[in-house]
Formats: sequence, structure tokens, C-alpha cells
Amino acid sequence: VQETLVLVKPDGVARSLTGEVLRRIEAKGYSLVDIKLVEAERELLAEHYAEHEGKPFFEPLVEFMLSGPIVAIRVAGDRVIEGFRALAGTTDPTTALPGTIRGDLGRDWGLKVQQNLVHGSDSPESAARELALWFK
Ligand code: GTP
Ligand code: MG
Repeated sequence: VQETLVLVKPDGVARSLTGEVLRRIEAKGYSLVDIKLVEAERELLAEHYAEHEGKPFFEPLVEFMLSGPIVAIRVAGDRVIEGFRALAGTTDPTTALPGTIRGDLGRDWGLKVQQNLVHGSDSPESAARELALWFK
């Protein structure tokens, strides 16, 4: 069975949407394998977002991820990597489709696109790499 890393980002935790995210994951039929509340360190975030290093939004993104606790979840299920990405919706909450986590719950008024509530690994390679980082 496939596994993925889901993060409820600081905006999701601060808005008390962790339960809603978990509800959607469980309602879809995926299993929670491990879960924890993390105050991430800069080093972990820099590794997590290594592919974005050097991009203009990298520093603001890391600062945002340092702004409060994150809930890290190991989720298992058939094709869960693709499946959770579908549940999350596209990166920008404004255009994410209704029915998705970002489309239903994301907002961008006064906020930045990085405040998009959740993260989900985007490939089996990313999932293995990210799970090893967040669940050492
Ligand atoms: P994740 O599941 O969080 O990885 O989102 P994603 O795969 O939909 O997006 P991507 O990996 O391309 O970018 C990672 C994160 O960086 C996004 O979730 C956003 O939080 C942020 N991000 C991506 N593109 C931009 C951008 O153009 N501007 C800003 N400010 N943030 C961005
Ligand atoms: Mg990504």
C-alpha cells in the first residue's frame, strides 16, 4: 500500500481546520498511520522545500512554515499520493475547485498563495524523501 506525507500548514492549524482535513482523508477511505504536532526547524523546512530554493517565494514560504505549529500525518491507501493531491486541489486557493480542501476552505484575501492549508507529496520519490524527513 502506498504512503504519502500530508502537512496541515500553520494557517490550517491556526484556523482549527486540522479535524476537517483529517475528516476528509478518513472519509475518502485512507488510513492514518502516524500523526504529530511539530514546531518545524528552519533546517527541516529548507530540506523539505529544497526544490524551491532560489525561487522568489522560498524565504517567505519558509518564514510562513515557521510561523506556528504544523500537523504532520503519514497517510496510507491505494494511490494515496495522487488521491490526496486531488482532495487538496490546485496550489492557489482562489482557483482550486470547490469540493477540494483548498477550494472549500482556502482563502486569499489579505493572504499569500503559500497559505494554502495543506501539503501533499507529489510523487513516490517525494513521499519517501519527505516521510523520512518528518518521521525520523
Ligand atoms: P505543496 O503540496 O505544499 O507542495 O503544494 P504544491 O505542490 O501545490 O505546490 P509547490 O510544490 O509548487 O509549491 C510548494 C508551496 O510553495 C505551495 O504549496 C505554496 O505554499 C508555495 N508556493 C508555490 N508557488 C508559489 C508562488 O508563486 N508564490 C508564493 N508566495 N508561494 C508559492
Ligand atoms: Mg509540492
